Parts: sequence; structure tokens; C-alpha cells
Amino acid sequence: MSGKRPTILVFDSGVGGLTVLAPIRQARPDADYVYVGDTACFPYGDLPEQQLIDRVTAVITAMADRFKPDLIVVACHTASTLVLPELRSRLAIPIIGTVPAIKPAAEQSKSKLVTVLATQGTVKRDYTAGLIRDYASDCDVTLVSARLLAGHAEAVLRGEHVEDAAILKEIAPAFVTKGERRTDCIVLACTHYPLLMDVFERVAPWPVQWIDPAPAIARRVVQLLGESKTDTAPSKAGIALLTQESGWTAALEKAFATYGLDRFLNASLPDGPNVPAKGFGV
Ligand code: DGL
Repeated sequence: MSGKRPTILVFDSGVGGLTVLAPIRQARPDADYVYVGDTACFPYGDLPEQQLIDRVTAVITAMADRFKPDLIVVACHTASTLVLPELRSRLAIPIIGTVPAIKPAAEQSKSKLVTVLATQGTVKRDYTAGLIRDYASDCDVTLVSARLLAGHAEAVLRGEHVEDAAILKEIAPAFVTKGERRTDCIVLACTHYPLLMDVFERVAPWPVQWIDPAPAIARRVVQLLGESKTDTAPSKAGIALLTQESGWTAALEKAFATYGLDRFLNASLPDGPNVPAKGFGV
């Protein structure tokens, strides 16, 4: 791939995928980036499974057709725990998913009380149950579905104020005690949550390790695409697309610019989760 910059497409339901884009960009500053947030359908956490499969497949295949990426990162647990087999059957491009970091949490936990903090979709997935069964059988795992937390992260990134108390209410059930033991590792199983890390640390009832999958995703990108090339021209400005009409505000553009994205477009996709997987070419 000497001389040719790879294009990496990062996808999420909203702004959460930025927390995954950041370490990828650090690892491959020479790549071109396209970020897609399906804000017309945010939040994904509540969507019925088949609707989510249809929607995510439709948006990603349309965006892949338009931008011809070398690699796709589905930076969304709620989607990845469900749609990867369908996506991989349709696209001949490498696809990296983002799934709950239960294995590292179980390995790092000393108290063996681990919490998975996620959307209600991710909490109820068979995929998540399988990870717990396969990698955390020696732990007591508490699944906490934080219905409003991703929305709070969206609001904060858009420059709105969210009370600490509202965030504490969402994360408080993640802190569990059993006799002398207490939770020492919390899996951040939604890419929006690291955007609120300073608040989490401020309001947490006690210090814990917050397990973020993003650095592992960046390592996987390097495994698949190789190390950064020094002989390529510097990366172009990144493109960011939202599916919601008039989704861009000045505050949001400013926030995205700090992640190296500075062309703001509308993805021009139909609204709503019931987009058929076929039927709209771009
Ligand atoms: N960022 C998404 C995830 O990682 C979830 C947000 C949503 O509910 O759409 O699961």
C-alpha cells in the first residue's frame, strides 16, 4: 500500500464513535477518515433487533459504496453485537466490530466483581451473554443498562449542560458490593460513555478501572492495515456525516474538529429504522 493512503470509515449511531476514532487516528495519522453517525435513528439501544440489522446494513453499505473505504470500524456495541455477520456477508471489505471488553475486565479484576455498563440492547444480547460465559466464568458480572446515558453524552458534546446527578443516577447501579468485595472494573460497553469520563471519575462512589475497548480496536486496525506509512502525503481533512437533516450545529462542528474532522455533510439517507436493506443506491 506504499504511497496510497487507506480510507477508514468509522460508524456509530451518533457521536460515540469519536472515542474509537481518536486512538485509531493516533495509530494511523496518515489515513483518510470518514465518520458516519446515524443520528436520525439515535438511540439504537431501544430498537428491535431486526430493524437495527436492516438499518445499520443499509446505512453502512450505502456509505461504503460512496466512499470506497479500505476498512470499516463499527464503533458501536449495540450494532456490533448484532449486525456483523450480515454486514460481512454483504461487503468484501474488512470490518472491525466493537464488542464489550469483558475478557480484559475479568482478567484485570481482583475482586471478581465486574460490571458491564451498556445500552439496553447490548445488555440483552446473546453475544454479551456468550462473552460472559466464555471469559468471565470466575467473576460475578452485573449487567447495567443505562437508558439515558448515551443521550447525556450526545448532549454534552453538543455543548448542553447535564447535571452530574443525572449521570450518577445512570452509573450508580454499576457499583456493587458483596460482603467484603466491591466492583473494581466497569466495562464501558457503549462508545458514548468515555465522552463522560471526567464526570464518571468525579461522581463515582469509589475508584474503579474503567475498561474502554478503543485502544484494542486501534491495535486491530494496525494489524489489518499495517503501521503508519512515512512515505505517504499527509492525511486530508476528515469527513463527518450525520443522517439527521440539519444535524450540524456550530458546537457540534467544533467538537468534531477536535477529532480532526472538518468537512461536515449530511448523509442524505431516509429517516427511520425501517430502511430496507435494498432499494436506495447512492
Ligand atoms: N454508541 C452506541 C454503543 O456503543 C450506543 C448508543 C445508542 O444507544 O445509540 O452501543
